[in-house]
Amino acid sequence: MKDFGHRKLILNSEEDTRNLGHEIAEALEPGDVVALIGDLGTGKTALTKYIAEGLGITEEINSPTFTIVKEYRSGRLPLYHFDVYRLGSGEELLDIGAEEMLEGDGVCVIEWADIVADVLPDDAFAVCLEYGENEGERTAEILE
Ligand SMILES: Nc1ncnc2c1ncn2[C@@H]1O[C@H](COP(=O)(O)OP(=O)(O)OP(=O)(O)O)[C@@H](O)[C@H]1O
Ligand SMILES: [Mg+2]
Repeated sequence: MKDFGHRKLILNSEEDTRNLGHEIAEALEPGDVVALIGDLGTGKTALTKYIAEGLGITEEINSPTFTIVKEYRSGRLPLYHFDVYRLGSGEELLDIGAEEMLEGDGVCVIEWADIVADVLPDDAFAVCLEYGENEGERTAEILE
């Protein structure tokens, strides 16, 4: 991941989330892991869609809640989109064969990454999303 300046951002609208997604996409390099942390509806899937858009992915991105992971190959880098909400631990993530994806040359974006934090690389790029004060507002804290 190329250097990323921000720390704590207010996303006033989904358009701000889109811009953040595009900025993250531009900074991504092969092998990067993006850990998304935040409650239901804070925008993890939305941010992933915009990261995918920024990577030039043309397929529609759907939340992989039931399949745990979906792979997209039409962009600048392969994208593995995980939603680990239904998993109980990092070990379960490895059980479904994620190691190959985590260590490969694509990028992994992981919703509910806190559940599997013990098996993610130390240098994962973490984004913590929260609800803001107003409707349509979110905050994003970036922990590199
Ligand atoms: N500033 C914002 N950024 C992102 N999404 C926003 C924003 N404001 C409103 N929204 C809306 O919030 C919802 C976020 O839903 P999304 O599915 O991305 O959340 P999620 O964190 O992935 O939830 P889940 O935990 O169920 O996976 C969308 O309906 C989106 O349109
Ligand atoms: Mg989601």
